[in-house]
Amino acid sequence: MTKHILLTGGAGFIGSHTYAALVDAGYAVTILDNFENARHDVPDRLSQITGKAVPVIEADIRDQDAIKSAFATNDFDAVVHFAALKSVPDSEADPIGYYNSNCTGLINIVDAMQASGVKNIVFSSSAAVYGSASQMPLTETSPCLPDSCYGSTKLFGEEFLARVTKAHPDVKTGILRYFNPVGAHPSGLIGEDPSQPPGNLVPVIARVARGEIEALSIFGGDYDTPDGTCIRDYIHVLDLARGHVLSLDALLNQKESHLVNLGTGRGNSVREVLNTYSEVINREIPNRIVDRRPGDPPVSYAATDRASEVLGFEAKHGLRDMCESNWKFSGDK
Ligand SMILES: NC(=O)c1ccc[n+]([C@@H]2O[C@H](COP(=O)([O-])OP(=O)(O)OC[C@H]3O[C@@H](n4cnc5c(N)ncnc54)[C@H](O)[C@@H]3O)[C@@H](O)[C@H]2O)c1
Repeated sequence: MTKHILLTGGAGFIGSHTYAALVDAGYAVTILDNFENARHDVPDRLSQITGKAVPVIEADIRDQDAIKSAFATNDFDAVVHFAALKSVPDSEADPIGYYNSNCTGLINIVDAMQASGVKNIVFSSSAAVYGSASQMPLTETSPCLPDSCYGSTKLFGEEFLARVTKAHPDVKTGILRYFNPVGAHPSGLIGEDPSQPPGNLVPVIARVARGEIEALSIFGGDYDTPDGTCIRDYIHVLDLARGHVLSLDALLNQKESHLVNLGTGRGNSVREVLNTYSEVINREIPNRIVDRRPGDPPVSYAATDRASEVLGFEAKHGLRDMCESNWKFSGDK
């Protein structure tokens, strides 16, 4: 029988791509989103991609009654929980707001799952839980010492879910620590298009390329890396979306709970990303080196062995593909 999945934050960047991947894999999916950081036309665009109507519940995960009612009026088999706030600097300025959305919101979801007998949840965690660890690659057993309030809310989510599974062993969790998602759907219909000012590198590059921002600020050009700029593990959002399908398949096939990194195992510098994007659009992208940001580790990339062993996951797309698909989506905005 077709399994019905609740996809919180499903109108957002990673959520919308995961929606398309889940429908493609044969799941029935309902999006729950308050559209705080997503455009209202995303469900229509997803409907063009999938050829099906897109069920949407417009609700806020902080609203306990609305969440209870969503579970009471639907028969969900599992939850994929994306809905959260994700800006590191904003989280430093507004810890109460971030703990409310990312922690209280998660508690509300899990509480409603318990009340309705839903046992499976895939949770969006982040490489931010590792903080500025220096030992590379980052394995799932590397120390978790988040530098930011955002990273702390994600670590809270992981620890909370571990407590829940300890108390209720029939609850199964897939905790996925993403590295740096980039890219867009090949249709060009969905991509990273936040309604709030972007904080991630590639959407800012796209806005500079479109002439909306004067120049890309590169935070630090004197790190101990080959070109002096920070190195990160960029993963195509299509690979990430497929990782969620694999995680959900595993939980619904009665496999054990799991906690895995989703990355490529490779690092690219900010300068390399900028140069690749420049090649794709065939022109220079204005940029300038500014001060380092406090807490930015020089290098960060994932160990991918566990994702491969537990989920059979391997990233397939490269950096050029990430930049090309991003530009196809955002170039003519
Ligand atoms: N993009 C990244 O770099 C990255 C990296 C690691 C982890 N993550 C995590 O992945 C998840 C998805 O990230 P994304 O990049 O797609 O972000 P996004 O902002 O594009 O998507 C989040 C979605 O959640 C919705 N939302 C936010 N607060 C809500 C609330 N209170 N109630 C209901 N909906 C709410 C937003 O409107 C948005 O559609 C988040 O949990 C994020 O922390 C993202």
